[in-house]
Amino acid sequence: MLKTEVYLGDAREVLKRFPDGYFNLIVTSPPYSDARGKHYDSVKPNDYPSFILGFHDEFWRVLADDGSLVMNLKDRVVHGVRHRFVWHTIEAMSNTGWLSIDDYVWVKPNSMPGYWPNRLRNEWEYCFHLTKKSKFAMYQDAVRRPIGGWARKRLRKLNSKDSGRHNSETRSGFGRDLQKWVGKELVLPGNTIRIPSVSENLGHPSAFPVGLPEFFIKLFTKQGDFVLDPFAGSGSTGIAAEQSGRNVVLIDNKKEYVEIMKQRLNQTNSQGRVRCFSDT
Ligand SMILES: C[S@@+](CC[C@H](N)C(=O)[O-])C[C@H]1O[C@@H](n2cnc3c(N)ncnc32)[C@H](O)[C@@H]1O
Repeated sequence: MLKTEVYLGDAREVLKRFPDGYFNLIVTSPPYSDARGKHYDSVKPNDYPSFILGFHDEFWRVLADDGSLVMNLKDRVVHGVRHRFVWHTIEAMSNTGWLSIDDYVWVKPNSMPGYWPNRLRNEWEYCFHLTKKSKFAMYQDAVRRPIGGWARKRLRKLNSKDSGRHNSETRSGFGRDLQKWVGKELVLPGNTIRIPSVSENLGHPSAFPVGLPEFFIKLFTKQGDFVLDPFAGSGSTGIAAEQSGRNVVLIDNKKEYVEIMKQRLNQTNSQGRVRCFSDT
């Protein structure tokens, strides 16, 4: 039977009760740097790499060898200049052994309008994909998308250039073989994920949309696998994991958010699932 577990506590401590290699995926958004300080502990940009490295030992230990860690991180502008602590954090993690497989970008089509004198509107955030090994579990078919109307028209009449591989006219070295696309209904998406940010009040200042963890849960786990969100906030990852038929462990060190998580989960159908809430 599938299980949802919610814990109140510091993720570094709570994780000690889980065995090595227990989780197939850690998907999370750690606290923003120097933001939301009124709501929960915040970290200075220069301290950010060492803050995240403080979780390395437990994250590495509880993640399966073929598992993935996806971290949604957002940098910030300090005195008009974009601070690169997010890059430094990923670099520091690479130095401890994590393989930085890819950078996904979460695009928020509903980002807040405004005016900034030296830049434009912020409308995306990073989702870094890190692994322990170069061979890891990935289920690309689970995120395939319809090929789109353009293809039906374009692929109906292929010309001489379309038979076999056609190298790009730009001589970039890239090429394509359109014949391989004929008859395909579904194709792989790119590594940007377009999902509006949460606009309703969930009682948490930085909840991400359920669709974001859901995308990575489908891509990196299969039904019945084990998902962890060690900075779970309002529990969006829990909703995504439950909807996708995965086991999930959610941790937050603020009682208020753990209560919100429980309420959110209790509002959804728990049939065929065990839910455990632990306040220690
Ligand atoms: C960016 S929020 C996560 C929001 C979440 N993705 C959601 O959809 O609601 C980060 C969360 O990490 C929690 N947090 C900060 N330090 C923590 C720690 N050491 N252990 C566990 N949770 C922590 C904060 O209370 C906050 O709720």
